[in-house]
Amino acid sequence: MGVHWQEAGRPTDKITRHTMNAHPSSEHAAFVQHMFGRIARRYDLMNRLMTFGQDRRWRRFVVRQAALHPGDWLLDIATGTGDIAFEARRQVPDLHIVAADFSLPMMRVGQLRESRLRGNGRRPLAWHAADTLHLPYASNVFDAVTSGYLFRNVSDIAGALAEQVRVLKPGGRLVTLDTTPPPRGLLRPFIQFHLRVIIPLLGRWITGQADAYRYLPESTLNFKTAEELADLLHAAGLVDVGYRRFMLGTMAVHWGTKPAPTQRPASRDSAISGTMSRPVGPSPDRSVLS
Ligand SMILES: C[S@@+](CC[C@H](N)C(=O)[O-])C[C@H]1O[C@@H](n2cnc3c(N)ncnc32)[C@H](O)[C@@H]1O
Repeated sequence: MGVHWQEAGRPTDKITRHTMNAHPSSEHAAFVQHMFGRIARRYDLMNRLMTFGQDRRWRRFVVRQAALHPGDWLLDIATGTGDIAFEARRQVPDLHIVAADFSLPMMRVGQLRESRLRGNGRRPLAWHAADTLHLPYASNVFDAVTSGYLFRNVSDIAGALAEQVRVLKPGGRLVTLDTTPPPRGLLRPFIQFHLRVIIPLLGRWITGQADAYRYLPESTLNFKTAEELADLLHAAGLVDVGYRRFMLGTMAVHWGTKPAPTQRPASRDSAISGTMSRPVGPSPDRSVLS
């Protein structure tokens, strides 16, 4: 499938639909897609409230971990309203950023934000409709792939990781932010109260969609632990895998690097670390990703 890049200087106010395999790949995906469509308008406000405004700090960390350089290509998959993509554009000049999601209402809110934000001469984002399990991009084209709160929502984490690794260039970085089940300890009952009672209440008041904000805590409590997610990154073939927890251990940012063809993935124990490696590899002509 040909995927046409909206060239810089010719920004589009439309989401690139023709790139898309927009149809969710399972019943669960259809449920998730519909749910984010319903809460899109108030999503950003809820995020700030639920995280006490801390989410911005974690997104800054995600972008730093992506180790991007001017001129690089970034895919922010499950971009939603574009928080990570906008942060990347703010931190690194001259990036080519593809912001992709399968919820058009979420991306429309993001586009509205973009039209209000001062771009300061920075390249506009390319908004693409795409399912993370079937990315409509060639292999080995992105210098980094980021995501925020994606894996908790997909039924096939290994499949989603495999797709992200496929589109990464050798040496490229995968970085992901997600919730993680609260660690055992004295604070756990308070955290569970926040997740199970406060968040659904807030969700009902602010979005009118209490069920969506009951799903969020349940998907958090049932999600992989930070160690398990790191194992999955490693199993997907990434090296230099590491993670850092935030907010009393309820959030985590994970990262890993796609090895160069000659670089064999190391054993699990030696691969999990916080070490960063710089992206390497040729820059393809990407005026059209096909
Ligand atoms: C909780 S929001 C996160 C948005 C943004 N990344 C952030 O950090 O705020 C999760 C997003 O993942 C998207 N999503 C979930 N499953 C997806 C899939 N299979 N393909 C593409 N996007 C997906 C949803 O549509 C939603 O916009």
